Amino acid sequence: FDTVDLIRTKRSGDALSTPEIDWLVDAYTRGYVEDPQMAALAMAIFLNGMERREIKDLTLAMIASGERMSFGSLGKTTVDKHSTGGVGDKITLPLAPLVASFGVAVPQLSGRGLGHTGGTLDKLESIPGWQASISNDRMMQVLSEVGAVICAAGSGLAPADKKLYALRDTTGTVECIPLIASSIMSKKIAEGTGALVLDVKFGSGAFMPTYEASKELAQTMVDLGNDAGVATSALLTDMEVPLGLTVGNALEVRESVEVLAGGGPSDVVALTVSLAEEMLRLAGLPDADPAAALADGRAMDTWRRMIAAQGGDPAADLPVAREQHVVTATESGVLVQQDALPFGIAAWRLGAGRARAQDPVQAGAGIELHVKPGDTVTAGQPLWTLHTDEPARFDRALESLEGAWAIGTTAPERGPIVRERIT
Ligand code: URA
Repeated sequence: FDTVDLIRTKRSGDALSTPEIDWLVDAYTRGYVEDPQMAALAMAIFLNGMERREIKDLTLAMIASGERMSFGSLGKTTVDKHSTGGVGDKITLPLAPLVASFGVAVPQLSGRGLGHTGGTLDKLESIPGWQASISNDRMMQVLSEVGAVICAAGSGLAPADKKLYALRDTTGTVECIPLIASSIMSKKIAEGTGALVLDVKFGSGAFMPTYEASKELAQTMVDLGNDAGVATSALLTDMEVPLGLTVGNALEVRESVEVLAGGGPSDVVALTVSLAEEMLRLAGLPDADPAAALADGRAMDTWRRMIAAQGGDPAADLPVAREQHVVTATESGVLVQQDALPFGIAAWRLGAGRARAQDPVQAGAGIELHVKPGDTVTAGQPLWTLHTDEPARFDRALESLEGAWAIGTTAPERGPIVRERIT
């Protein structure tokens, strides 16, 4: 095929054939199709979209670009969760051990954060001793013995996506349903999980701008998974405000441990339990009671064994940032606004996240929220505490919070955190 012809086809809004997509993805992985050509194509897809058949072909071609894993030898049902990312989204931490405490295997191949959304591995790395990278053999062993593993995805899964995602990141072509859906699902299907629950976010901290677009993304991914033989469903969940009361690596681990101890903020508990119920339903355990396993310590027990299996000390003190800055209420009233995205950006500027893939993150940096929308506040009361090792970072973080929150008179209407289930 001629690469420029294929770009012209998408530029005109026509569909690529299955052989054309197979060729393109393979040629791009091998370096025959070059980055500028793929960038032009990604922009044409961004602007003109793809048919359902093309999205499926793209997903399958990206899977075929690398290795496929299998958990067949485990002799256990496997179920995984993927979140489209949000601010304060630490749900994987309590969720994986919670679901595993019912005898289901939970392989969570995770990533690091880039930009304002935190990465699960960055969070866990704030636990002294904990190692993100383990061999495949060790991963299978931990899955068999503990039931849950959260580790770095090997570079062998969907290498075409790895290349394309990095290119999209620098060419303004990330927020596109066909490209997001094929990117996420190629990795999840290649990973070999038997079942998958997607936590697709809507609201100001989410990828897609509107509820309808988030719903379309969820349905596209659910269809891709089920077509490929992975039992897949999705929950559409609220990312209008940060999740829970902490944003930042060690801060979020601390909150996750509170949830595992039977406490924690109600929104984090509600989402953890809803996702666990959905995962257990797909795993054939529709009557399982995850809330009970949080309350009676079964989930905490699995957490401790999961952390220890990767070298971490679950009893160790977590790192604390060297400097704190408290933001107080300028007037009395009710907190009526707390936008997820600017809080995520502020935590990132405090050092919780990275701007380039190779940058380090601070374990202790981030934001502790003392109030959430609907709470009554009194002038002078602490609203949030900013944490960082480098006080020079406070100014830029405070800048991103300007206009991100407001005190008013009437509590805002908030729907339930899980708005809809997509199958
Ligand atoms: N996460 C991914 O893995 N890919 C995307 O395109 C977006 C989010």
